[in-house]
Amino acid sequence: MTLLVEAQDLARHYTVRRGLWRSPGTVRALDGVSLAIAGGTTLAVVGESGSGKSTLARAVTMIEAPTAGTLRIDGVDVGQADRAALARLRTRVQMVFQNPYASLNPRKSIAALLGEPLAIQRATLSARARRTAAREALARVGLGSAALDRYPHMFSGGQRQRIAIARALMLAPALVVADEPVAALDVSIQAQVLNLLMDLKDSSGIAYLFITHNLEVVRHIADEVAVMYFGRIVERAAKRTLFEAPRHPYTQVLLAATPTLAPRRTPTPPRGEPPSPLAPPAGCAFHGRCPLAVDRCRVEVPALRQVGETWVACHLAG
Ligand SMILES: Nc1ncnc2c1ncn2[C@@H]1O[C@H](COP(=O)(O)OP(=O)(O)OP(=O)(O)O)[C@@H](O)[C@H]1O
Ligand SMILES: [Mg+2]
Repeated sequence: MTLLVEAQDLARHYTVRRGLWRSPGTVRALDGVSLAIAGGTTLAVVGESGSGKSTLARAVTMIEAPTAGTLRIDGVDVGQADRAALARLRTRVQMVFQNPYASLNPRKSIAALLGEPLAIQRATLSARARRTAAREALARVGLGSAALDRYPHMFSGGQRQRIAIARALMLAPALVVADEPVAALDVSIQAQVLNLLMDLKDSSGIAYLFITHNLEVVRHIADEVAVMYFGRIVERAAKRTLFEAPRHPYTQVLLAATPTLAPRRTPTPPRGEPPSPLAPPAGCAFHGRCPLAVDRCRVEVPALRQVGETWVACHLAG
């Protein structure tokens, strides 16, 4: 079976200026990430702020080319694909952003916003067919056709996120990359939007790469989970395996820090700050905060390796 997404050693480095006098530095926002997503499944990506989640999202949605590594979508190597193949692949992957206030152009009607992807990708469709398709997409996200001739400011945050989801559905994508799609919403409507996304998965077989800080959300939506730390995946497993037997010390700290998960598995709180992106530590990036770190962790970067049913990047896991 061809996997929908296969990333191998994806990297994205940024050169950043550090003031007038110092030489530019390099931020390894994504530093060798490998993952796979099968059609119709949800990979949740968790990790603290700055760990590279959004950078991964931009690479997988082909918004930004990776600095190194390969990305395959539908088995096609994106880096080698010609323009026609790329155009087709771009219709297969859509993105939903965190902030539905920023992601919808306020000057366009909902009909225009939803019709836009079709106008670009399916230029032969009539305006009427686009409107019909927009109406159908609204119905799938629980909104009536009265919304068509309104503008984004006339909707609540939750409704706007439904519209953003409807827009992502217009080209019938196989993968939706959702970057904190409910984090900006009222707690009371987060569950509704999450349930909508999961219903769409069941009815249309959409796969998700779902980025979130919230482990309760992960519990609700994930099939597989990838834990990121400092531009790398440090642990990857089926959701159940990960929650029942987290193997990386960082994952253990993350799970222990979630108040709703009782009993606490690891009493150790995350110590210290994450390292500076411009001065990455040698060895395992987590060693400065790791309660278990030994000498080897300070010098040798741990590779992601299989332990039981989990992939984990820790010298001590086993
Ligand atoms: N365009 C850019 N130029 C320079 N550095 C960048 C750029 N984009 C991201 N970074 C840096 O790369 C690292 C990863 O950023 P990214 O936005 O992917 O993190 P994130 O996991 O999505 O964080 P958050 O949870 O806060 O959204 C950070 O150190 C960030 O400052
Ligand atoms: Mg982000």
